[in-house]
Amino acid sequence: MTDLRPADVLLTADQIQNRVRELAADIRRDFPGELHLVAVLKGAFVFLSDLVRNMPGRVSLDFMAVSSYAKGTTTSGEVRLLKDLDTTLEGKDVVIVEDIVDTGLTLTYLQDILRARAPKTLRTACLLSKPSRRVVDVKVEYIGFSIEDRFVVGYGLDYAEQYRNLPYIAVVGT
Ligand code: IMP
Ligand code: MG
Repeated sequence: MTDLRPADVLLTADQIQNRVRELAADIRRDFPGELHLVAVLKGAFVFLSDLVRNMPGRVSLDFMAVSSYAKGTTTSGEVRLLKDLDTTLEGKDVVIVEDIVDTGLTLTYLQDILRARAPKTLRTACLLSKPSRRVVDVKVEYIGFSIEDRFVVGYGLDYAEQYRNLPYIAVVGT
């Protein structure tokens, strides 16, 4: 692929911060007690850090890393577990924290393996969703923004491991 760089800003830092505050409040309202967040590395690390800082009360965290066998900017559907959780999910109220749901294949795989570990509840929060790209009907209870089918970077999302550090989300172009 040719040299792609962030072009148009799709979501400003202020827009993201406001929406993340709302999502944190929504999740807290649904789970006022102990809450266990499972973030998907690497893309979700920025979203997670803003989410938890807007969430008062008792919150524990864990991380897992997966890799989709990507072909360019599309997913093949095969998912490989690179890092598993440190602690059990049994009996816990668990929310998966992910950067973006695109085809839905990655999240479907994650939800299936995490549900098998007997959490009390399992829900999913995604900052972004591209509904037009969905190939499997995956349930995501908390969605920050629904966007069109454009490849985006920033706020944790990368292109070839770059641009995760941008405080805003931009569409890449040449
Ligand atoms: P899915 O399995 O197709 O839903 O793919 C989800 C994963 O693909 C996300 O966790 C991202 O890592 C990656 N992804 C999908 N769309 C984008 C994008 O626009 N920018 C950056 N990464 C993306
Ligand atoms: Mg990801």
